[in-house]
Amino acid sequence: MCGIVGYIGKNEAEPILLDGLRRLEYRGYDSAGISVINGKKIETVKAVGKIAELEEKLSKKDVKGNIGIAHTRWATHGKPCEKNSHPHSDCKGDIFLVHNGIIENYQELKDDLKKLGHKFKSETDSEVVAHLIEDLMKKYDFKTAVAKTLKMLKGTYGFAIVSKSEPEKLIIARNGSPLLLGIGKDEYVVASDASAIIRHTKRVVYLEDGEMAVLEKDGYEISSMHEKIIKNREESEIDWSIEEAEKQGFDHFMIKEIFEQPQAVTDAVRGRINVSDGNAKLGGLRDVSKELREIERIIIVSCGTSYYAGLVGEYMIEEYAGIPVEVEYASEFRYRKPIIDSKTAVIAISQSGETADTLAAIREAKNKGALTLGIVNAVGSTIARETDAGVYNHAGPEIGVASTKAFTSQLSILVLFALFLGRQRNMSLVTGQRIAKELEKLPKLIEEVLKQNDDIKKIMKKYSKYRDFLYLGRKYNMPIAYEGALKIKEISYVHAEGYPSGEMKHGPIALIDENFPVVVLAPKDSVYEKTISGIEEVKARGGKILAIGTKGDKNIAKISDDVIYVPKTLEMLSPIVNVVPLQLLSYYAGTLKGIDVDKPRNLAKSVTVE
Ligand code: G6P
Repeated sequence: MCGIVGYIGKNEAEPILLDGLRRLEYRGYDSAGISVINGKKIETVKAVGKIAELEEKLSKKDVKGNIGIAHTRWATHGKPCEKNSHPHSDCKGDIFLVHNGIIENYQELKDDLKKLGHKFKSETDSEVVAHLIEDLMKKYDFKTAVAKTLKMLKGTYGFAIVSKSEPEKLIIARNGSPLLLGIGKDEYVVASDASAIIRHTKRVVYLEDGEMAVLEKDGYEISSMHEKIIKNREESEIDWSIEEAEKQGFDHFMIKEIFEQPQAVTDAVRGRINVSDGNAKLGGLRDVSKELREIERIIIVSCGTSYYAGLVGEYMIEEYAGIPVEVEYASEFRYRKPIIDSKTAVIAISQSGETADTLAAIREAKNKGALTLGIVNAVGSTIARETDAGVYNHAGPEIGVASTKAFTSQLSILVLFALFLGRQRNMSLVTGQRIAKELEKLPKLIEEVLKQNDDIKKIMKKYSKYRDFLYLGRKYNMPIAYEGALKIKEISYVHAEGYPSGEMKHGPIALIDENFPVVVLAPKDSVYEKTISGIEEVKARGGKILAIGTKGDKNIAKISDDVIYVPKTLEMLSPIVNVVPLQLLSYYAGTLKGIDVDKPRNLAKSVTVE
C-alpha cells in the first residue's frame, strides 16, 4: 500500500528518498514520485510502474536540495497514471504533498474549492488537501494553514508537505496512517514504515493520531492539529537491523522468510516457556493477568493470513483453556453489532500492526468496554500501542507480501496464550508440561521440513500445469488448508479453494476430475481416518492427490499420487509444521511461472485503507 518518505538535513535529499522508496516497494504500489525543494524552486518527478522508471527519469535531471518528499502510490481514487501519482500540488505549484490514507469528504471539499476558482489536475482525494492549504495560506503561515486544513478533513491520513513560501520546513501529520519520525545526526528521515528509516537511524518518534510535526534542519516540534505544542515526546528504538531487512543471498524475501521460520518460532517462544511449571510467561500480559483470569469469552479479529492464525487459535484456546472463542474478519466486526462486555477479551492479530480494518475493530471493541490485546510483529505500530496489553512476535521484518514467518510465529504465540489461559483455569500441570516441551522442539521439526526443499520444488514442477487446486484439511488443519489455498492464489495467480475436508461432499466434489488436483493435509491425528475417507472419495472420481502426511505413514503413500512427509508433533502444534510445505509449494508455483513473488500484482503488504 502507499508509502511515504521525507527527508530534511545536511545531505542531498534525492538519493535518500529514492533508497527509502525502494525499501517500501514490498508494500505494493503502481506509481511513484518525488519532490525536492531548493530555495524557491521545487523539482517534481513522477513515473508509473517501478521505482526504476522514476530513477531513469531522475537520472536525466539535476535534482538538488536537502529537503524532499517521496511516495509510492497504490491506487484508490483514480487509476494509476502520472497525473494521479504523488506528490500533488496546489494551483500555483507552491505546495507539494504526499498522502497515505483516504480523505472521505474530499468531494464536498473539492466542490467548494472549485467554486473558489481552484483548478484540479488529478482525480485523487489527496490533491484537495494541497488546495485547502493554499487557500488558508492567504491568511496564515504554513504551519497554521496545515493545522486548520487537518481540522477540515474526515478520513485517514499520513502527510509529508513542503511549501515554497517557507522552504526550510517539512511538515508531517498523521491520523490513522502510520508515520514515523527518524532522528538522525543533523537530519530527519520520515517514513510510513521503519524499513525506509533504519539505514539512517534507529531512533524514532511515533506520531499519534491527530498530531503534526514541523521539522527544520536543527530541530522539530510536535503539536496537535488544535495547535497545542506537545513537549517531551518519548523516543523509541527500532529493534531490528538493516541486515534483517535484506535478502542475504536468497532469490526472494519470501523464500528467505520461509527459511527463517525455525528462528522466528524460537524467537516467539524464547524466555516465554517454563517447562517445569508447564506454563507460559508472557510479560506483556502481566498487567492484565487478573482480568484475563476473569474473562468469559474471546473474540479474535484479524485479516488475511492473520485471520487463519486466529482460526487455529480458536481451536487451541477452546480445547486447552475452555474459553469460548470466536474469530472474525476485522472488516466485518467493525461494521456489525458485536455483543461485547467487560468479560470479553478482543485479540487483534496483525503482522504489521497497521491494518486499517483490524485497527478499527480494536478501537470499536475498546469503545464497548472490552479488554483489548494484540499479537503484533511490528514493534511500536499503532495496534501495539492502542491495545491494553499484548505479545510481540519478535519475528523480525517480514518483507515478502505473502505472510510466512509471521504466520508460524503467530501460531506459536497462540499456543503460549492457550497455555497461559489454560493454566489459569483447569489445565493440568502434566498437560502444560507436555505442550511446553513439544513447543520447544518445533524449530527442529520445521528444519526437517525445510530440508525437503528440492523435493518439494520437483513436486510443484509436476503440478505447475494445473489451473485449479482444492486444499482440504480438518480440525486444526482446516485453517491450514485455507492458508495453503490463499498462498498459492496470491503468489502464482492460480485458482485455489481451501475447504474443510468434511464439507467437500457438499459442493466442491462436483469439481473433481483429473484436472483438479487436491492437496490434502492428512496428519496422523484424531481425525486421520475421516481424512482418509475424503481422499478415497476424491480418488473414486479420478482426482489427483498430493498429501501432506506424517513421517512413517506408509498407508498414505498408497492412496495418494504424491506425499510430502512431515515429522510428528502434538495435534495442536501440527499446523505450525504442516503449513511449511504449502508455503514452499506456493513459492515454487509462483517462481516457476516467473512471477515476482515478493510483490505479486494488486496486493499490498500492509493494507492501511479500508
Ligand atoms: C495483507 C497481506 C497479508 C496479510 C494481511 C493482514 O493482505 O498481503 O499477507 O496477512 O494483509 O495483515 P496484518 O499485517 O494485519 O497481519
